[in-house]
Amino acid sequence: MKKDEIIKNYNYKLKELFNHNKLYYDKSKPIISDSKYDKLKYDILELENKYKFLKNNKSPDKVVGYKPSRSFEKYKHKVPMLSLSNAFSKNDLINFEKKIFNYLNKNIKLNYSVEPKIDGISASLTYKNKKLVYGVSRGDGLTGEVITENLKTIKDIPKKINVPNFPNEIEIRGEVFIKKGDFLKLKNEFANPRNAASGTLRQKDPNETKKIPLNFVAYTFGFIQNNTFKFQSEFLKDLKKWGFKTNKHNKILSNIKQLINFHKKFEETRFDIDYDVDGLVYKIDDLNLQNRLGFTSSAPRWAIAHKFSADSAITKIKNIEIQVGRTGALTPVAKVEPVNIGGVIVANATLHNEDEIKRKDIRLGDVIKIERAGDVIPHVIEVDKTKRDKNSKIFKFPDNCPSCGSKTIKEFNTTTKKYDAVRRCINDGYGCERISIEKIKHFISKEALNIDGFGKKVVENFWNLNLIKKPQDIFALDYKKIISLDGWGELSVNNLKNSIEKSKNVSLQRFIYSIGIRHIGVENSKLISDNLENISNFLKIIKNRNFKKFLNIDGIGETQINSLKYFFSNQTNVDIVVELSLILNIKHQKLNKSGVLINKNFMFTGKLSGISRAEAKSLIEKNSGTTLSSVNRNLDYLVIGEKPTKRKVDQAKSLGIKVITQDELIKLLN
Ligand code: IVH
Repeated sequence: MKKDEIIKNYNYKLKELFNHNKLYYDKSKPIISDSKYDKLKYDILELENKYKFLKNNKSPDKVVGYKPSRSFEKYKHKVPMLSLSNAFSKNDLINFEKKIFNYLNKNIKLNYSVEPKIDGISASLTYKNKKLVYGVSRGDGLTGEVITENLKTIKDIPKKINVPNFPNEIEIRGEVFIKKGDFLKLKNEFANPRNAASGTLRQKDPNETKKIPLNFVAYTFGFIQNNTFKFQSEFLKDLKKWGFKTNKHNKILSNIKQLINFHKKFEETRFDIDYDVDGLVYKIDDLNLQNRLGFTSSAPRWAIAHKFSADSAITKIKNIEIQVGRTGALTPVAKVEPVNIGGVIVANATLHNEDEIKRKDIRLGDVIKIERAGDVIPHVIEVDKTKRDKNSKIFKFPDNCPSCGSKTIKEFNTTTKKYDAVRRCINDGYGCERISIEKIKHFISKEALNIDGFGKKVVENFWNLNLIKKPQDIFALDYKKIISLDGWGELSVNNLKNSIEKSKNVSLQRFIYSIGIRHIGVENSKLISDNLENISNFLKIIKNRNFKKFLNIDGIGETQINSLKYFFSNQTNVDIVVELSLILNIKHQKLNKSGVLINKNFMFTGKLSGISRAEAKSLIEKNSGTTLSSVNRNLDYLVIGEKPTKRKVDQAKSLGIKVITQDELIKLLN
């Protein structure tokens, strides 16, 4: 890479980091996971290491946090509030010690104060003459925001010290956090407890802060007048005597082996702790050594944060629930003790199917390792059988549907000559409540009728209120009743009415897909629609039951034909299709083979404005273009919306694919 390209790439990453810092520290609303953030920071530091000319004073090595918000009065910390370097492996710890020995120019026996790293936000409390005079956030490490009144609402923070031998002036530092149980009440507003604590603490009005139970654990000091402390552990003991809360898991360890063992044990039991811990902090206990080692520009040389895995965690199964899907498939889901995996609170893990439970012998109450990597649904990696209760029993998968009580079966696949791994409810028409609800959710979904403002929650709600029991009920809603419901008003009801009205004009392809026939997804619906050309032909085939006609269609096989036959052997399904055909205006969308986008492949990343993905896709198809689902050499254009996935943009650029905005796409269409 040329020098100017390296600089451009570096600046791009740095700007991205700056934006994420703002979202994390100032807005308390990060949009990327902690692990992605750590990776970005690591990449920048790697680049600086490789290309020394990149070093500058905006480097993450020099900058901590984000400048204090203008909404708060500022406070210059007497001693800067710096960050900690991270360690992820044994090697990182060995390097950490090596650097210490090099700096001190000798190998010595070290004692470490080991402290859980609570995932909250740090605060510095200044006491003068035993009275709390300032409570300040970290800000950019040098200057913080004065949030004294907000901090005073926290019961763990002493406002006055009532014991002798308290320094005349001292900055006591620690972590403000919210307990997992209290976070559950706020989980719709914030992604994780840290963001909730940060958002609550930085409210303009302390009365707002007061509403949320925040906690404080003290762990270090900034400035101390006449400091006589010799050890961190001694300081922690005094904090307790003075009336501060300290962490009950704090301990002293003296070599890397002990640190690793304790870290492993702690990681295995952290789900049991009532607050989020994202690692352990190791600090050299001897304050004289700490003084000698001092700081780099962003972190102390005498401490390190040993983080827990960012994509897996150990937790415990509280319950195994069986969910029933649209096609009657019974999916077991483990309800687990919530754990924070890389900034996301995970409370459910899929167990896939009955066979998977059997294969891994997963039981109620088991301690398990779950993984949440990328966009994959959290799943169980392994069961720790050594932690299993000796009275635990093999999980018995239900023989009957948990929703309607009907028999469940495993289908025999004549091609593979094997029984399906998935068990299904045999009552897969509208006889089973759960299946019906899921069918209606499918009917209104993006790729189907795409009814704006009619989400999954609305379906559940309307179902419970007996407003809808079949898809066609959506077009005969009692709006007078809806307007009086909690959360609905004139505007939202009018919007709903309009989007339902709009959805009545639907393509044949979307209509076929919306019915929810097993094995007839978006692509097959399109093939059938192109073959039939109008809804009357579809109704004729249903009436005469000659689905075999579809065998002529390239892409439709026995599996699809059998599924269609089975689906329409149920009279309710036939009636629903007939009724809907009378309500809706169903038109076959002729493929335009001479549109301006002929032979051009598109892909989207990020949120589009004023148009859904599904609509944009259909717009492209109407103009003879095609949409792809991954970046590859066949792609011609990557259309970027708001917050695009950087990886996709980079990949596209490196393959020489044109990256265009939504406006540029519209221009192409003109
Ligand atoms: S000591 C100069 N001790 O971790 C070192 N920090 O990335 C000052 N944290 O901003 C920090 N638990 O919010 C220290 N026992 C602990 C901690 C701890 C959590 C947080 C703190 C700090 C961040 C460093």
